[in-house]
Amino acid sequence: MSLWTPQSWRNFPIQQQPSYQDTALVTQIEQQLQKYPPLVFAQETRDLFSQLAQVANGDAFLLQGGDCAESFADFHAPKIRDTFKVLLQMAVVLTFAGRSPVVKVARMAGQYAKPRSSDLETIDGVSLPSYRGDIINSSEFTPEAREPDPNRLVTAYHHSAASLNLLRAFAQGGLADLHQVNRWNMSFVESNPLKERYQDISQRIQEALRFMEVCGITSQTAPSIRETQLYTSHEALLLNYEEALTRRDSLTGDWYDCSAHMVWIGERTRQLDHAHIEFFRGIHNPVGVKIGPGIDGDELIRLIDALNPDNKAGRLTLITRMGADKLADKLPQLVRRVQSEGRKVVWSSDPMHGNTVKASNNYKTRDFEAILREIRQFFAVHQAEGTHAGGIHLEMTGEHVTECTGGAYGLSEQDLAQRYFTQCDPRLNSDQVLELAFLIADSLRTGSV
Ligand code: PEP
Ligand code: CO
Repeated sequence: MSLWTPQSWRNFPIQQQPSYQDTALVTQIEQQLQKYPPLVFAQETRDLFSQLAQVANGDAFLLQGGDCAESFADFHAPKIRDTFKVLLQMAVVLTFAGRSPVVKVARMAGQYAKPRSSDLETIDGVSLPSYRGDIINSSEFTPEAREPDPNRLVTAYHHSAASLNLLRAFAQGGLADLHQVNRWNMSFVESNPLKERYQDISQRIQEALRFMEVCGITSQTAPSIRETQLYTSHEALLLNYEEALTRRDSLTGDWYDCSAHMVWIGERTRQLDHAHIEFFRGIHNPVGVKIGPGIDGDELIRLIDALNPDNKAGRLTLITRMGADKLADKLPQLVRRVQSEGRKVVWSSDPMHGNTVKASNNYKTRDFEAILREIRQFFAVHQAEGTHAGGIHLEMTGEHVTECTGGAYGLSEQDLAQRYFTQCDPRLNSDQVLELAFLIADSLRTGSV
């Protein structure tokens, strides 16, 4: 195998990249970014690696979620806070129900580049380059907005840094206190139409907290009640940006992509002989790869071996995105194959990307029932195969958007127009996402997945 360097991906074919007009400016900006401070430290990344090793071994659960595409325009503290809150709320419910730690990884602070199914978007006979995420161009439908702008690489870096700064403050500064998180859950349950169904869990968490308090385990005495650890992740699609933030760790001499703790490769850019696999093989972060229903066992084993040749638990998360109608048919053989060849992976379910549909009024949407069905089937397959259903990967927001249909409030296709704000794919709103957590918790508790 040829020598790996942070630049060696440039010698391979690559998909889904912008074509910039001013290439000299691109180079200049890449050099500028190379001098900027890393966004995360290698040691944090190794901590996540070892927590994911616990997931791979069946002793923890991975919760990964956030926007499909973060936005420069919609960038403010309440938005970051509300998504952070809802991730923590979910994590508490899942920790309690699954009786195991939940590793929290946000799709935040860097989720700015999007693969697209088509290079062009056509509206009323006018064709323009597709929107590719705020790190590349703008979603407005004008020729100027759609022109890839290299200056956006720097803006993405600064937005990521500011988001990360706030997330770190929230995680350590009191907002993550378990008592508070469960109080939010209780008020969610109190006002939910399915209150009866969810009440039991939040009350039992409350009792557990009271019991611990009586035993002297409080926010004051135990930092683990008061603080949490939240990691960041994004699809590392735009490789010149990722390369610019890739640094050699002074402690180990290993290379890390310091744009996030975890990065993943999308379904559209995971070709074995292409640039993304080349870049990923040299970085020491924990990494993910999305796999759709088209993959077979042989290809999967080759993919695993390209990304995790030393078969280290925690290094590789396989994020399945099959669709509710296909998963039960496709996943069992893949799980069996990986098991029989002794490969150590985290299996995580993305129940979003295989279930995107067009509503009758043309909105791109996903139905809560299909999302839930894919998750349940994912759990059922792992239960049947004796493997660990390691995690879930969601497109979600803490805001009250109307982008996915269904859920306890019965969001209909007609409701989608009310608050449809996503830059790209439809996200679960805070009520839907918590509902999902309570329903999964119910299944985990009763073993009825
Ligand atoms: C995504 O996670 O937003 C995405 C594009 O997913 P996939 O690569 O699975 O299509
Ligand atoms: Co998406």
